[in-house]
Amino acid sequence: MGELRGTHVPVLLERCLELLAPALGRPGRTVHVDATLGLAGHAEAVLEAHPDTVLIGLDRDTEALAHARVRLARFADRIHLEHAVYDELPEVLDRLGYPAIDGILFDLGVSSLQLDAPDRGFAYAQDAPLDMRMDQTRGVTAEEVVNTYSHPDLARVLRVYGEEKFAGKIASAIIRERERAPITSSARLAELVRESIPAPARRTGGHPAKRTFQALRIEVNRELAALETALPAALDKLTVGGRMVVLSYHSLEDRLTKQALADRVRSKGPVDLPVELPGSGPTFRLLSRGAELPGEAEVAANPRAASVRLRAAERLDPEAARQGRTDRERYRRRVKAMHQPGTGSPGSGKDPRSAPGDGNGTDEEGEGT
Ligand SMILES: C[S@@+](CC[C@H](N)C(=O)[O-])C[C@H]1O[C@@H](n2cnc3c(N)ncnc32)[C@H](O)[C@@H]1O
Repeated sequence: MGELRGTHVPVLLERCLELLAPALGRPGRTVHVDATLGLAGHAEAVLEAHPDTVLIGLDRDTEALAHARVRLARFADRIHLEHAVYDELPEVLDRLGYPAIDGILFDLGVSSLQLDAPDRGFAYAQDAPLDMRMDQTRGVTAEEVVNTYSHPDLARVLRVYGEEKFAGKIASAIIRERERAPITSSARLAELVRESIPAPARRTGGHPAKRTFQALRIEVNRELAALETALPAALDKLTVGGRMVVLSYHSLEDRLTKQALADRVRSKGPVDLPVELPGSGPTFRLLSRGAELPGEAEVAANPRAASVRLRAAERLDPEAARQGRTDRERYRRRVKAMHQPGTGSPGSGKDPRSAPGDGNGTDEEGEGT
C-alpha cells in the first residue's frame, strides 16, 4: 500500500503543534489523542516533535487507519490506532488503560483519501455509487437517504447541513426522479442538482452540487451528533494543563465547538461573590481569539485550508481559577469605585467584562499568537 504522503497537507500544522506543545512537552510520558487520524499527517508531526508522547489515533474509516499504520510504523511502540467513532473515546481510553490525556486534536470532515477515492461517492466530480459512509462497515448510505427520505426531511438536510437555498427544489427533483428509477450514482445526483438550480445561481458559489453532497455526507455519517457528544467527553478527559485543538470546516461544527468551550470557560458562580465557590469556577481557558482563520500563504499552498476555523483551550488548575476570580473581583471593585461620583473619571475604567483573565468565555479572549 502506498503512503499517500504527498497527496495530503495537514491543515494549520505549525499552529496545531505550537498550541499542543506546552501540554505534550511536559516532563515524563504524555498522552495525545488524534480523534480524526486520517492519513496521520498531524499525528506523525506530533510523534516526531514529542519523543515521550504516546499517541492514540482514532478513525472510523478502516482504509484511513491502514494508511496511517504504514505511515506511523516507525513509532509502533508508542501508538494505538483504533477503529472507532470519536464519541467512543471514553470507552477506548478505558480499554487501553489511559484514565486521562494531555492533548487532543479534532481535524473534522473528510480526508483527501476519501474525497479522491473513485469508489466512495463523496465527490460530485466523479461517478461512483452513492455511498459516502466514512465507516463502510456500518450505517446507512447516501443512496438510502436519497431514495427513502421524505420531501421535508430531504429539504431539511440540504438546507441545514448544506446551507442550500434551493433545498426544496432539489428535494422535489430527487423525489420525481426516484419515482421513475432509484438514484444510485453520484453523477446522476450531481446532474439532478444542477438542473434544479436556476441558471443564474449556477454561475456562483462553486459547483452547484457541492452543498448537496456536503449535506448528505454530514447526514450519512451523523457528523454533528457525534461531535456534540465527543467534545465534552474529550474535555472531561484532559489533565490540568492539557489542551484541545479543533479544526472545523463547517459553520455548524464551529458553532458546536464554540458552545462546548464557552460552557467551560465561564464561571457559574454568582457574579458579585469575591471568591469562586468550589466547583463553580471556569475549568478551561481559551487559547484562540475567537475562531482563528488560515493565512493567505496557507490557503495558497493548501486549498483544503480555505474554510478552516481553529479553536483551542487548556484545562485550568482549579486553584488558579479561584485565584483568577479573586483578582477579577478586585479589579471589578476598583472599576466600580472609579465610576462612583467623586471617585475618579468615569471614562478611565475599562469595561470589567473584558478584564484580563476574565473567564466569561467571550470570543475576544485567548492567548492569541
Ligand atoms: C480531515 S481528515 C484528518 C486528516 C489528518 N489530520 C491528517 O493529517 O492526515 C478527517 C478524518 O477523520 C475521520 N473522521 C471523521 N469523522 C469521524 C468520527 N466521528 N470519528 C472518527 N473518525 C472520524 C475521517 O474518516 C477522516 O479520515
